[in-house]
Amino acid sequence: MRIMLGIIILAAGRGTRMKSALPKVMHAVAGTPMLQHVLNTTTTLKPEQTIVVASKDLLSYVDHKDTDYSVQENPQGTGHAVQCALQHLKPTITDVIILCGDTPLITADTLHALCKSKADVTVLAMPLSGMDINKPYGRLVVNHDSVSRIVEMKDATEEEKLIPYANAGVYKVSVATLRKTLPLLTNNNKSQEYYLTDIVCFVHEQNNSASYILGDADEFFGVNSKVDLSCAEQIMQDRLRTQHMHNGVTLIDPKTVFFSMDTIIDPDVIIHPFVTFGANVTLKSGAVVYQGCHLENAILHKDTKVGPFAHLRGNVELLEKAEIGNFVEVKKSTINKGAKIKHLSYIGDATVGTKANIGAGVITCNYNGFIKSQTVIGDGAFVGSNTCLIAPVTIQNNSIVGAGSTITQDVSEDDLVFTRCAQTTKAKGARKFKAKYSK
Ligand code: UD1
Ligand code: CA
Repeated sequence: MRIMLGIIILAAGRGTRMKSALPKVMHAVAGTPMLQHVLNTTTTLKPEQTIVVASKDLLSYVDHKDTDYSVQENPQGTGHAVQCALQHLKPTITDVIILCGDTPLITADTLHALCKSKADVTVLAMPLSGMDINKPYGRLVVNHDSVSRIVEMKDATEEEKLIPYANAGVYKVSVATLRKTLPLLTNNNKSQEYYLTDIVCFVHEQNNSASYILGDADEFFGVNSKVDLSCAEQIMQDRLRTQHMHNGVTLIDPKTVFFSMDTIIDPDVIIHPFVTFGANVTLKSGAVVYQGCHLENAILHKDTKVGPFAHLRGNVELLEKAEIGNFVEVKKSTINKGAKIKHLSYIGDATVGTKANIGAGVITCNYNGFIKSQTVIGDGAFVGSNTCLIAPVTIQNNSIVGAGSTITQDVSEDDLVFTRCAQTTKAKGARKFKAKYSK
């Protein structure tokens, strides 16, 4: 019979240990909510249907496009959660993969391997050794290749607590098996919950097959607290760093560079230490990002340079060979080919022309407290240091703005403009001044 696959993601738990108003599964790892990580991974299995068992407060945070949500009003355990999902499952579905919304590190390869299992129920398990033997995971009572039951730590005997196979909380089960076993669950245990794990025991008793697959503990890491969240972040960042380096990106000190899941970097990009990539950044080959930069919503074309200590945000495009230097913030602007903004500037809501040169300390005054206005700087224009460009304003091609100007009117092509107070000189005034104050 052809398998029609469904996915059930359990995410209705209260997540109280996160101590947050945000539902647990909405906390981000590498910029993406944990639930979205799981959805992105399960999508690669091309399921017929995906159901998230959710708390009511989760519903306002999620997009309902390709995913169904089943609200579990009064959570009574993982078995109860799956019962809630089953009510919404399409009748054509023959098998489901059940996993948790708080395990963002699980990989598509592992789920694909699980999918191939033919048993009535297959449990993903992790081998425990050393100190990990105390971890509060359910334990698999195994007999050769099959599992006869799963015992929760709270309910385990001292001997069972030492079983070195832990339940990862990820299962493949046939829908027929679920329909036969879920009604048999009781909450006759220490937590007074309906444990999904108890279906394994019923499957075994009914002489059906229950098997397990061992996997890598990192992948099944579940986030319950902010400490766990930081551990998941570390593991994910390490994966992203390795992946980018394998793709030909040079990271001079990988541990200090932080990526988003959606960061796109071509080979032959060099990233110096202490750089953070927020959402939606693309770097083309030959780009160099120097120390201490924060980039989000930005495209860096070929051979561009950014930093050290620069901040790009809110839709920035740097065309080929454009250069942004130290202590420069660029927001919602296009910097054309070969333009340079090398020191201590704020450029916002602006277009900077090809090979324009923006001097130290130039500020686009784009906001009057109510609205944002545009600044256009033409090709080959030169804007002298410490100039304020009060937007809306246009500086046309090849014009020059003298240093220290405050520009309120448009500047025509090839003109030279400056606004400057006349200089006052008091001959030997410095001596008099010092004499007065050094008494
Ligand atoms: C569960 C397993 C345990 C396994 C561990 C792996 C059971 C009884 N135990 O324990 O064997 O080692 O996962 O991480 O299943 N949830 C709901 N509704 C509920 C209860 C839970 O949606 O009524 C969701 C939670 O949000 C969470 C997941 O199910 O995402 C797991 O629940 P949790 O209470 O964390 O189970 P564990 O005690 O960790
Ligand atoms: Ca858990």
